[in-house]
Amino acid sequence: MSHTQLDRREVGQTGLGVTNLCFGTSALGHMPETYRYGVPEPQALETVRAIFRSPVNFLDTAASYGNGESERRIGMVLRELGGIPAGFVLATKADRDEQTNDFSGDQMRRSVERSLRLLGLEQLQLAYLHDPEHTTFEAATAPGGPVDALVDLKRQGVIGHLGIAGGPIPLMIQFVESGIFEAVISHNRYTLLHRSASRLFDLAAARGMGVLNAAPYGSGILARGPEHYPRYAYQDAPAELVDRARGLAAECERAGVPLAAAALQFSLRDPRIGSTIVGVSRPDRIDQTLELARVTIPDDLWARLDRFADSGEQDPEAHRWD
Ligand SMILES: NC(=O)c1ccc[n+]([C@@H]2O[C@H](COP(=O)([O-])OP(=O)(O)OC[C@H]3O[C@@H](n4cnc5c(N)ncnc54)[C@H](OP(=O)(O)O)[C@@H]3O)[C@@H](O)[C@H]2O)c1
Repeated sequence: MSHTQLDRREVGQTGLGVTNLCFGTSALGHMPETYRYGVPEPQALETVRAIFRSPVNFLDTAASYGNGESERRIGMVLRELGGIPAGFVLATKADRDEQTNDFSGDQMRRSVERSLRLLGLEQLQLAYLHDPEHTTFEAATAPGGPVDALVDLKRQGVIGHLGIAGGPIPLMIQFVESGIFEAVISHNRYTLLHRSASRLFDLAAARGMGVLNAAPYGSGILARGPEHYPRYAYQDAPAELVDRARGLAAECERAGVPLAAAALQFSLRDPRIGSTIVGVSRPDRIDQTLELARVTIPDDLWARLDRFADSGEQDPEAHRWD
């Protein structure tokens, strides 16, 4: 029998000390088209305040979440607090222009400038190049391109540390192997249901990079259950995936373990993963998440749950997730 504990690690070799649990704020940007529900501003502000009151010291956002709305709401709470509390790490991501798909170096500068303004900060502690699947590795790393622009902002001290965050595993591996980035976020690809990020995590961990695993609930199905939320990675889930989620839920029920606890601890217990990014949009989720991390899980349950996982080794991007 085992359970996980909240502890602190360094994000790779950045010197940033973070809890192994991080709260993600994409839903707080009010994105009903992504999550199928919106989040009114007062609820978002209460959720951000609850995160800052909690023992978790790591918050994840992005310029694109609600086109700046997640950062704007976080910025409102930061102004109440007089800035980022000591010892807290706030990470954001530089984005393309979603209207024009402009992914140029100039767009990265505009994105970072807007993040600073919305958050009310002079420096971004940790910023990622976000969702590079909307360009190509070659275009992203071309001289004067988006990666160059972000490296330059880091040299100027506007960005403290630079990471890469995105989806397709073969592409993410190219960025990791470039040696330019200090941390990597993968999402929806290392869960009880799907594991194609495992190879990426091996490579990034071997390089001493910070490894962050986002969306351990596959965007909600593993927290709310397949009957209530039959979606995976922001899309309606295929029937075979919903069936596997039902199998996981049944195994967990037999063991007396909430499915969400197993889904969360599957990521928390992996030694390669520095922090697990859980999305929340209500204040009560904060304590619930801490409770789920403490649930005791019989050791033999893990092997039974493994039977329902797609390793993703055949075609890691067969599903075309966002
Ligand atoms: N490209 C990238 O870099 C990238 C991509 C995806 C995600 N991310 C980051 O990772 C974070 C997490 O991803 P995600 O939010 O999409 O997926 P997730 O963490 O797998 O799932 C979040 C969903 O689970 C629900 N949930 C959380 N705790 C729960 C609980 N205790 N009981 C019941 N339901 C619960 C949330 O509900 P409520 O909304 O009701 O709280 C939300 O619908 C994002 O917010 C973002 O910061 C980054």
